[in-house]
Amino acid sequence: MAVQGKKPRLKAGAFRRFASLVIVTVIGVLLLIVLLGTNSVSSFVSRNLNESYYTNLEPLHNISAIMARLNLPKQSELSLQLEKLNQLPPRNLDLYPKLADDHITIVLYVHNRPQYLKVVVDSLSKVVGISETLLVVSHDGYFKQMNKIVESIKFCQVKQIFAPYSPHVFYSKGFPGVSPADCKEKDNASEKGCIGNPDQYGNHRSPKIVSLKHHWWWMMNMVWDGMKETKGHSGHILFIEEDHFIFPNAYLNLKVLADLKPVKCPDCYAANLAPSDVNSRGENWNSLIAERMGNVGYSFNRTVWEKIHRKAKEFCFFDDYNWDITMWATVYPSFGGPVYSLRGPRTSAVHFGKCGLHQGHGEKEKKSGCIDNGAMNIVAEETDKAVNVNKEWEVRVYENQPGYQAGFKGWGGWGDERDRELCMKFAEMYH
Ligand SMILES: *[C@@H]1O[C@H](CO)[C@@H](O)[C@H](O)[C@H]1NC(C)=O
Ligand SMILES: *[C@@H]1O[C@H](CO)[C@@H](O)[C@H](O)[C@H]1NC(C)=O
Ligand SMILES: *[C@@H]1O[C@H](CO)[C@@H](O)[C@H](O)[C@H]1NC(C)=O
Ligand SMILES: *[C@@H]1O[C@H](CO)[C@@H](O)[C@H](O)[C@H]1NC(C)=O
Repeated sequence: MAVQGKKPRLKAGAFRRFASLVIVTVIGVLLLIVLLGTNSVSSFVSRNLNESYYTNLEPLHNISAIMARLNLPKQSELSLQLEKLNQLPPRNLDLYPKLADDHITIVLYVHNRPQYLKVVVDSLSKVVGISETLLVVSHDGYFKQMNKIVESIKFCQVKQIFAPYSPHVFYSKGFPGVSPADCKEKDNASEKGCIGNPDQYGNHRSPKIVSLKHHWWWMMNMVWDGMKETKGHSGHILFIEEDHFIFPNAYLNLKVLADLKPVKCPDCYAANLAPSDVNSRGENWNSLIAERMGNVGYSFNRTVWEKIHRKAKEFCFFDDYNWDITMWATVYPSFGGPVYSLRGPRTSAVHFGKCGLHQGHGEKEKKSGCIDNGAMNIVAEETDKAVNVNKEWEVRVYENQPGYQAGFKGWGGWGDERDRELCMKFAEMYH
């Protein structure tokens, strides 16, 4: 009976203990949920740091010193984690311990279209000679599905880098992401008391759109001047995007073109895998072709990069959010002479991305036959599987091609002083 009599009191005590347990559990679960986002990056970081346990992790630059010197935006937790990832050595060093002396580094820059990236990576896996080189994948934003695809690559050394100041990494934590005080669309800054400078058409910045030009420029500065792996590399670097299908002969063709370039085409700054007209697959002539710089599969060497880098101001202050149109309208014309790119008469790369994805009026949007879902039917024929450029061929030059050039005012989207400043800081960061 005594037991029975005590029961209610026991019950009350048990209830109190139970209630506090529930509260603790709820708080714990909530904390877990809050931490989940950063947790996945943390585990990614530590797993990768372990992978490189025996490698020297001494960074090339003192990032915190750079941040202080240039007064860069305050970094988010994610952004700081990404800086750490950028210091990691390449994967697959056990499989491919040495790069060929005359290798051409490949840089693949991506955002978040995993179904496209799969197609590109699959095409790269069939590229002859790729095992002798380093593939750098430059990410605009941190996306697990994208990482998974890159981590699966086994056909060459792979190094991932992440744009630490991507608007996609800052989310709503202020510039370069969105901040509540920012002007939007056609706001009048003085009337509304918001922050921002409109572009030449009266529109305020859109973080999603400016991220394209920021990423390209940061990546260029990083791969030429900010990375141990490429710091000593004076030869060519090839740049491709997450929606460029690469033919098996691309790498070996490119090596031939890079060698021939100074001999056969002194006005050529670059070598291209594809025609500058993204609709064209080439003329199938028995000659090489020199034409305006294209934006699919372009490659150039450190001398050319240094020339581009000296035009940082032209690049960063031009009111167009497209990196390629900015280059055509300001940077190349400022070189003071013709700027050609050398290529073969048959393409070794095809742009297959969806039209209009990035909005605006770029070259990419004009092309027909864009696909939506990554399920495309690009077929590499026999002639695309081995070198199909000939050292004996003459060079035919396309002069006065149509397209963006000096005098074009830009499509806008790049009027905010903060974007221009950040862009200039990228040029200084590693230099
Ligand atoms: C790294 O990983 C290996 C197994 O993959 C493990 O045995 C080792 O303890 C790890 N080292 C560190 C420092 O975490
Ligand atoms: C990097 O710079 C910071 C700030 O200037 C300094 O405190 C730190 O000692 C530096 N680290 C190294 C490894 O030089
Ligand atoms: C913004 O508003 C101010 C004050 O009403 C006005 O003087 C100015 O012309 C406006 N600016 C623009 C670009 O419309
Ligand atoms: C890089 O390419 C340019 C243009 O073709 C050429 O003038 C220069 O000599 C090359 N630089 C190196 C280091 O090979």
